[in-house]
Amino acid sequence: MKKTVCELFAGVGGFRLGLEKASSNWKTVWFSQWEPNKTNQWAHKCYVSHWGDIDEYTGIDISTVPKKKIPSHNLLVGGFPCQDYSVARPLPGSNGIDGKKGVLWWQIRDILETKKSPFVLLENVDRLLKSPASQRGRDFGVMLACFNDLNYSVEWRVINAAEYGTAQRRRRIFIFAYKSTTKYSKNIKATPEKLLTKTGFFAKSFPVEKDVKIDETTLQYKNIHDISTSFSFDFKNSGYMKKGKVYTAKTIPILEDAILLQDILEKKVDKKYYLSKEAKDRFEFLKGSKRISRTSKDGHKYTFSEGSIAFPDPTDLPARTMLTSESSLNRSTHVIKDLKTKKLRYLTPVEAERIQGFDDNWTNTGMPEKARYFIMGNALVVPLVTRMAKKLESILNKE
Ligand SMILES: C[S@@+](CC[C@H](N)C(=O)[O-])C[C@H]1O[C@@H](n2cnc3c(N)ncnc32)[C@H](O)[C@@H]1O
Repeated sequence: MKKTVCELFAGVGGFRLGLEKASSNWKTVWFSQWEPNKTNQWAHKCYVSHWGDIDEYTGIDISTVPKKKIPSHNLLVGGFPCQDYSVARPLPGSNGIDGKKGVLWWQIRDILETKKSPFVLLENVDRLLKSPASQRGRDFGVMLACFNDLNYSVEWRVINAAEYGTAQRRRRIFIFAYKSTTKYSKNIKATPEKLLTKTGFFAKSFPVEKDVKIDETTLQYKNIHDISTSFSFDFKNSGYMKKGKVYTAKTIPILEDAILLQDILEKKVDKKYYLSKEAKDRFEFLKGSKRISRTSKDGHKYTFSEGSIAFPDPTDLPARTMLTSESSLNRSTHVIKDLKTKKLRYLTPVEAERIQGFDDNWTNTGMPEKARYFIMGNALVVPLVTRMAKKLESILNKE
């Protein structure tokens, strides 16, 4: 099977870069990247500056792209937001699914329906397994039911990148889906327990301890609306779904040495990255513990409280999760003590790229520095994809 790829929600190409670092056999035939409500499409421009453009549809809202225009491919990849996946009751006689407008999962589903991609690899925040709080597991249940309806099986795993030898404590869910007609699917003979701990897609690339307790459930529904209104389940960090049967377990990673923040810091940085006295005071407040009396809109008085977080960030640990707000004066922004000058400073854009495993200056393609941090906050840990790519290549070779 040809290693052709379609990269949705491509950002600056974390999936593509990760695949290409594993092998030159991967060929991205189409991608889509559009940042809503922004005049400057920095991520799309950066992507195009590395790989060139493909057609007039790559840089527009995916929901406006006629799905038939998307070239055929064997692997669909993408990192997309965790949103509300609930659906309205279908009107009598209609057979479509009425998901909320602007919810990007429905774009992925429509593409899978039209393009019938045999293999799919998605990334999302780990909260997806638990959301919404009022009906835990509903959104992931909706996703699984959609895959099931389109004749896919699904494996998933929440991976904390730092536990597998990278520079960032970033916990994300990866979802691997494949058509039941693929050889890969037909050849699965292992018990769910063995699949999740030894032989499955994630267990092969990211080893875990072998003792697990499997919980199971069945997706029972006439249409997706039934799942949307009544399904709830305690999904664990690993799982497998085939023909509506769901198996899940809490797996324990076999830890590998992480890369530490001190290993990726630049030796000498411009003075603009050092904190002013005002910024230092502000960070001390933001990162410190606090109890503040507040009044809600309806006049209700309450106390907001939060504990302190390390300030500055320890450099003998991997970085914390990088967010899109990394460029702002924010509680979650990294502040480190420079190894040489011992003064407090921000991370540089190159350090932000290194934390995500991108090449140095990947985003130095003409955009403001603020946009470089934002884009890195949105991206993924590239070396994780490279690891998965090796297993993917062997799977596609056998098709
Ligand atoms: C979580 S990020 C994925 C980043 C990517 N994995 C990377 O390595 O850079 C999601 C991306 O989807 C893009 N996006 C959001 N809404 C979109 C839409 N309607 N059409 C196309 N892209 C969209 C965002 O601009 C963002 O870059």
